[in-house]
Amino acid sequence: MIGNRTFMMIKPSAVKDGFEGKILSKIQEAGFRLVALKKTQLTKIQAGVFYEVHKERPFYSDLVEFMSSGPIVAAILEKPNAVQEFRQLIGATDPSKADPGTIRQLYGISVSENAVHGSDSDENAAIESSFFFSGKERF
Ligand code: RTP
Ligand code: MG
Repeated sequence: MIGNRTFMMIKPSAVKDGFEGKILSKIQEAGFRLVALKKTQLTKIQAGVFYEVHKERPFYSDLVEFMSSGPIVAAILEKPNAVQEFRQLIGATDPSKADPGTIRQLYGISVSENAVHGSDSDENAAIESSFFFSGKERF
C-alpha cells in the first residue's frame, strides 16, 4: 500500500535566506496538506541521530554540522503517494542537476545546501515525523 504522508525540512541555508514562505507556498500549491509544522534548531547530537543512515558516508560530519548550524522548518505533508510526489517536487539532490521549477533548482545553493530534505520511503517518513512531532502536534 502506498502511504499518503511524508516528512520534510527546510534546511538552515534556505531559512537564513528567508525562503520559508515561498517554499511552503510551492508545497501547498502542489496539493500537499500541512499536517504538522514547526521552526526549531537541531543540536549536533540530534542532527547526528537524524542522519545516522549516512554515518559511513564521507560527507556525514559536514552534514551534521550544517544541519545544526541554524533553525530549520519541519513539516509533515499529506497527499496521495506523498513520498514520491514530494521527491519529484524537490528535484535531484544536486540543485544544478534538478529539473527546472523544482524547489532545489529554485532555492538550492549546492549539494549540501540544497534547500530541503524529503523522506525517501514510507518507513523513514514515519520515523522522521516521530523525531519532530508528537501525536498532539498533528492535525
Ligand atoms: P535528503 O535526504 O536531504 O532529502 O537528500 P537526498 O535524499 O536527495 O540525498 P541523500 O543521499 O539522502 O543525502 C542526504 C543529504 O546529504 C547531503 N549530501 N552531501 N557532499 C556530498 O556529496 C553530499 N551528498 C549528499 C545533501 O545535503 C543531501 O541532501
Ligand atoms: Mg535522503
